[in-house]
Parts: sequence; C-alpha cells; structure tokens
Amino acid sequence: MCGIVGAVAERNVVEILLEGLQRLEYRGYDSAGVALLTRDGELTRMRRTGKVKELADAISTEEALGSTGIAHTRWATHGGVTEANAHPHFSSDRIAVVHNGIIENYETLRADLTEKGYTFTSDTDTETIAHTINEAMKTTDSLLTAVQESVKTFHGAYGTVIMDKADPSRVVVARSGSPLVIGLGLGENFIASDQLALLPVTRRFIFLEEGDVAEITRRKVSIFDKDGNAVTREIIESNVEHDAGDKGGYRHYMLKEIHEQPVVVRNALQHRLTDTGLAADVFGKGADAIFENVKHVQIVACGTSYHAGMTARYWLEQYANVSCNVEIASEFRYRKSVVYPNSLLITISQSGETADTLAALRLAKELGYMASLTICNVPGSSLVRESDLAYMTRAGAEIGVASTKAFTTQLTAFLMLTLALGKQNGMSDEDASSIVSALHSLPAKLEETLAITQGIEDLAEEFADKNHSLFLGRGDQYPIAMEGALKLKEISYIHAEAYASGELKHGPLALIDDEMPVIVVAPNNELLEKLKSNVEEVRARGGIMYVFADKKAPFSGDSTMRVISVPTCEAPIAPIVYTIPLQLLSYYVALIKGTDVDQPRNLAKSVTVE
Ligand code: AGP
Repeated sequence: MCGIVGAVAERNVVEILLEGLQRLEYRGYDSAGVALLTRDGELTRMRRTGKVKELADAISTEEALGSTGIAHTRWATHGGVTEANAHPHFSSDRIAVVHNGIIENYETLRADLTEKGYTFTSDTDTETIAHTINEAMKTTDSLLTAVQESVKTFHGAYGTVIMDKADPSRVVVARSGSPLVIGLGLGENFIASDQLALLPVTRRFIFLEEGDVAEITRRKVSIFDKDGNAVTREIIESNVEHDAGDKGGYRHYMLKEIHEQPVVVRNALQHRLTDTGLAADVFGKGADAIFENVKHVQIVACGTSYHAGMTARYWLEQYANVSCNVEIASEFRYRKSVVYPNSLLITISQSGETADTLAALRLAKELGYMASLTICNVPGSSLVRESDLAYMTRAGAEIGVASTKAFTTQLTAFLMLTLALGKQNGMSDEDASSIVSALHSLPAKLEETLAITQGIEDLAEEFADKNHSLFLGRGDQYPIAMEGALKLKEISYIHAEAYASGELKHGPLALIDDEMPVIVVAPNNELLEKLKSNVEEVRARGGIMYVFADKKAPFSGDSTMRVISVPTCEAPIAPIVYTIPLQLLSYYVALIKGTDVDQPRNLAKSVTVE
C-alpha cells in the first residue's frame, strides 16, 4: 500500500529518493517523508502530509544532503494522516525506519517499550520497529544482528528499511509479507518496494524472499534467510520500460491505460494463440500435463480481479465443461471450504501482492488443491513466486488506481484457459474455433470500441450530477456490470450498484426514479430478449436508461432511453469489448466532477495489508 525507497551511495541520494517516491506515489499518497544520513553521521528528516510534491517542494535539493537515505509514501493504517505519523520514524534520533505492512502485535510491543522508557511520538505501529531495534542495539554493535533479533518479535507483515546514525555506510532491510526489491548499481545500491521506483538508476534487481533480512552497503549486498543462513538470490535483469511511469501525453494514467488495451491484449496473445488453438504450456511449464486431470476450478481474488474470475466462471462452465467456483479472497481465507477432487486453485491479481489473495493461496496449499495457478501482471511478485504455475498478463505497469488494462488482459487469459481446459474436457470443435477466431479479432475490436468516446463524453455530462446509479447485465455481462459499477464508485464517488437484471423485480426496482440512472449492458446474444423485458420494467417505472447495445440490436432511443452503439463482436469476447465503454464512462464522469482520477481518495493501488 505504501511505497519505500532507499539508497546507499557516494553521491547525494536525495533526488533519487524523491524521484523514486514520485514513481511509487500511486501506491499510497497520504503523506511522504525522507531521512538522510551524511558520511559524517548527520541525520536529518523531512516529512509532509499530502502528495510527494508537497515534500519535494519543501526540500531544497542543494541543502538536503545524504549519501545514505530512506524515503516513504504512506497510506495510513494505524494513526491518522499527520506529519507525526508519516515515515521515517526515529528512535532516540539514532535509528530511522520506513515500513510497509502492519505490525499486528504493536500494542503489546508499545506497552513493553514504554515500560522500558521509550517515548512514542506517533500513533503508528511502525514506531515500535524503531524502538525495538534501538533496544536490541544495546546488546550488539551490529545493526544486522539487531534487526535479525527484532523481527522475531514482530507479528504481521513488514517490508522495512532501517538506518543507524552511528553507521552511515549501510542500511538493513527485512521482508515478511510486504515485497522489497534490491537494485544493484555500480558502487551504489538501492532498495524499494517496487522496481518501478529504481528504474532511473538500475535494471538489475534481486527480489527478496519471505523472511529474508539483508545488509546493503555501497559495494556489497549480504542476504540471510529466515533462519539466519547466508543465501544467494538470483539477479534479474528487468525489461520493464523505463518510462512505464510516464503518462505518454494523456491527461491521466487511467486514460493512457484504457487506450493501451488493444496493444497489450495483442501482446498477451502473441506466441500464445496460434491459428488453430494454443501453443504448448501457455500457463507455465508443465501446465498442459496438470490440466489433463483438472475437473474443477476454484478462483480466488479481490476487487476487479474478482470480477475477472466471475466472468471466467461463465466461460469455463459454458465452453470448457469444467465446474468452477469463484470467491472473494478475504472470505475464502477465513471460512472452512470443501475441496473438490482434482481441483485447480487459481488466484488472479494485477499486483501479485494483495494480502488477502496471497493468504488464500497459502491456505489452499494446506487444503490439498492439486495445483495452483496465478494469473498476474507483475513478474517476480509474491503470487508468481509462490504458485505452481504462473501466467503473466503482459499488461505493462498499471499506475492508475482504478484497474483497466489489467482486467481486460486477465479476461484474455481466461479465454485462453477456457481453450486449454476445454481441450481436456470435451469442448466442441465449434466452440473452440469460435473462441480462437474471436480472440484473433479482439485487439482490432477493442480499437474500434475506443472510437466511440464522443458519445460517452456526452453521456457523462448528463450523469455527473447524480448521486446513485444502477448497472444491469445478464449472463457473462453481469460481472461486467459489476466492474462498471466498481469503476464509477472508485473514481467519481457516485454510488453505483450492479445487479443481474433478472433480479430487478426482487427488490432493486423499488429504487427506480428519474434521479437513479440505469446503465444496461446489452450485447446481441441469446439473453437479449430477456434483457429487453427488464428494460421495459425500468421504463414503466419512469427510470432513465443508458443502454450500451450492439449496433445491430433492436433498441431505439427516446426521452427516457439513450442508446450507445457498441461495435458488433463475436460472443466469447463480448464481455471484454463491453468493458471499454464502461471504463470510459467512469473516466469522463470523474473528469467532469474533478476528482483525483489516478489517485482517488482513501484507496491505494496495491492492498498489501488486510
Ligand atoms: C480496481 O480498480 C481496484 N483498485 C481494486 O479493486 C483491485 O482490483 C483489487 O485491490 C485487487 O488488486 P490486485 O488485482 O492487485 O490483486
């Protein structure tokens, strides 16, 4: 949720830290701070509430000096958004700490440390890390040893970086539950919670594993596993684009990412989809052999990724003859569930670091699933490393908090998975070739759909002063309606609910009036007639409707119903195509309302805490 950057160098690191924070701001943006240590052991700190820019404006880069430094952008969990609660946190003006995650036993630690004479200056759980390490330094001269001893007392999740004023030549870092990546430079080394922060200074990375503690100096990186054994971790050359964090001429990251969808979907299909089907082992080495025995699929995810899973269920059961359950990760992880024989556990995640999804995967390993597959956008993320099989969505860095291209590439993955599992479970040749041909047409169809922007901008004007809205869909478009409602809520703060339209008369119809716009997703499929009856139900109650309908579908607009034509597409890809206008609608409504599109209030891009 929060962002961490750190550096140990010969040069002044303040600009590297600020640039890193700016690149990570999408992960958390309540407040930001930096602590710098000069070679002579002078420790300074600057913190500000608000965006990273507030911090950058407050720092004079000529005067702020430090060859070792740590920095943080915060998404508040424990303690309000105040300067005192912003990181780095100090203990005795000697130990400086930044931290992502939650120390769950912080109350007990805080009571113990208070008894030992420590004074707390913040309401955060993080400050207990600083004081615990300071206390441990009473029995050792080594910051590394002090951190190794201290982490044994922490329950919960942490990615933490620690500096000691007494030794400016190093930082010590520890990872458990919150990712950390070491960036290797020439005569200088770095640490961050996401490689994106360090791309301006290096492309060589070491992803720390669970329980790792590492000591980083200018010339050396020493890593120790959870048992304290020295270990070597693989160095990975990153191919993430350096400018992945740029807006590329668009006003917002979200708009850029919406418009990238034809390209990233094309990339996702490349070398995976052939003229007649799929290449071998598209879902990871050995996947095809595992798929031969799969009889049931359990999907677990959160938010938008959960909606991708909901859509996949329609496809897997309709085309691949494989039974499928889908559950929100935070529910799955805390209830007793029954594992069907030959069940494949699938997690879906843009970030690969969502705490609930990760916990669900770890639980599933104990429950006896035959294998786990993750559909993920971030190589080297925790879900990728801990799953038996990993499929990368290739959406590229997604910076906008509202997920867009990650979703459509997840759906693309699921259509390919439908082919892979269907092959083992009696999928008809007709269905297989219709999915293959639909997938081939998908990038062009997405391009065509993006061209309907103008109509949607006009619609957004009518929509922006509303406080509530209802999204309706049927079949595999029901989860798309859910996703449309989520997008609108997230960035425009308009209350939006989604219903399977057959449910209307079981309650929500009572809400209909001319102040409650109803969005209908209406592709030209076998459920169209049923959907039209639902539309009539709304019309009869004086509702105002906005219908996203296939060009050829027989809808005609009037004063109560505006019809927005969507290009005709083949049935299997319709949920992906209809996602686009709903993304655009929420974007333009948010634009009119003047909300912070890329960093909406109270949210963070990657939810690494419960
Ligand atoms: C989507 O727009 C969200 N911001 C959010 O629901 C997100 O999809 C969810 O937190 C899951 O994240 P993940 O895909 O990184 O696991």
